[in-house]
Amino acid sequence: MSAKSGNVSLGGKTVELPVKTGTIGPDVLDIGKLYAQTGAFTYDPGFTSTASCESAITYIDGDEGVLLHRGYPIDQLAEHGDFLETCYLLLYGELPTPSQKADFDYRVQRHTMVHEQMARFFQGFRRDAHPMAVMVAAVGALAAFYHDSTDITDEKQRMIASMRMIAKVPTLAAMAYKYTIGQPFVYPKNSLDYTSNFLNMCFAVPCEEYKINPVLSRALDRIFILHADHEQNASTSTVRLAGSSGANPFACIAAGIACLWGPAHGGANEAALKMLAEIGHIDRIPEYVKKAKDKNDPFRLMGFGHRVYKNYDPRAKIMQKTCHEVLAELGVKDDPLLEVAVELERIALSDEYFIEKKLYPNVDFYSGITLKAMGFPTSMFTVLFAVARTVGWIAQWKEMIEDPTQKIGRPRQLYTGAALRDYVPTGKR
Ligand code: CMC
Repeated sequence: MSAKSGNVSLGGKTVELPVKTGTIGPDVLDIGKLYAQTGAFTYDPGFTSTASCESAITYIDGDEGVLLHRGYPIDQLAEHGDFLETCYLLLYGELPTPSQKADFDYRVQRHTMVHEQMARFFQGFRRDAHPMAVMVAAVGALAAFYHDSTDITDEKQRMIASMRMIAKVPTLAAMAYKYTIGQPFVYPKNSLDYTSNFLNMCFAVPCEEYKINPVLSRALDRIFILHADHEQNASTSTVRLAGSSGANPFACIAAGIACLWGPAHGGANEAALKMLAEIGHIDRIPEYVKKAKDKNDPFRLMGFGHRVYKNYDPRAKIMQKTCHEVLAELGVKDDPLLEVAVELERIALSDEYFIEKKLYPNVDFYSGITLKAMGFPTSMFTVLFAVARTVGWIAQWKEMIEDPTQKIGRPRQLYTGAALRDYVPTGKR
């Protein structure tokens, strides 16, 4: 029994359950033996009060608007480091020394190419396929190309699979984009840094020189840092659940990408931009705010609210700054969407409904405007999120696989269907 414990009374029976304490954050009541001791399950659809695992990677204090990776605040990582440094930190737990960083960058760069046969795999898709549909398939298909890194019991293979995905997911993402616009795939260029290489694969064409804009490259790199991990969110929990059965890591990350696609999760950046375009003018904002508050209207302000943050999303502040930097660099002075966004944020933050429900702009509110200004179509927004989140999924997957107490994730249920009844032959029904 741990030092702390909590009593639970059920049907006249009281059981003492251990309470676990983390480094920071709320204690958890360990209910692992509850069923054995009382015959009852707990019920928490949506996991609003349930910790699904122990993790030492990312910490969020939603009330205070804090996000830490391995203890380091997100704003410090976004301001001072680059995306691959955050990747290293998430995977290994410490910031790299200069030589560790150089070695890590080199190893990622040497894995950027995909098997040439993958290019043929893309040909099977319609040109108008949503790039997220292509990503789910292409990342899952990596397991068919890299058999030598699918044995999850081999530590070396786990690490190779991890490096392969961090390096190859951007290549596949750029290929998914090129395919939908009918342009030739652009091979990775290992002389470029991670994010510049991604921009080059997306926007270069064989007939012209493509010059990387360092301001845009830095901004996208920062967007990647902001999206790198977010503890046990829906897609990460999906990756963990898929991985708990022993599935190979490529399949697990494909499952995470599928989950990310939904508008309540990674699809929100695409949905937020579409919403801003639909509102179109600041005069129409009150109409949309009214819709969002109407209980009988399913409409929600996309890019607002968060399951965990009940304060300003710390990523949103950095995203807002990055958005202004990108628009200034590109000379976009009067972007109508930005005008709507700024005014919508102002109105929502002073509206009683949003204040009372603690609905603040989240990271996706400004990311769409920024990515659009950079030249990405809305259908690519969630793909960019997937590129960044790949490292978080992998770090969380590795942590789970390397935990000696790990077992298959298998929730229980509250059954509300028919009770036992006898089969009735077809003619007698
Ligand atoms: N607009 C209007 N009302 C909202 C909104 C919104 N965006 N979000 C929540 N509410 C209301 C909701 O109707 C509910 O009201 P009531 O208590 O009267 O029924 C209350 O606030 C609590 O909402 P909930 O759905 O119970 O909260 P949740 O924690 O389950 O949902 C959320 C979190 C992010 C799914 C939700 O806020 C939402 O749908 N937001 C819009 C989509 C979005 O921007 N998602 C991106 C999340 S950040 C990126 C990521 O991590 O993937």
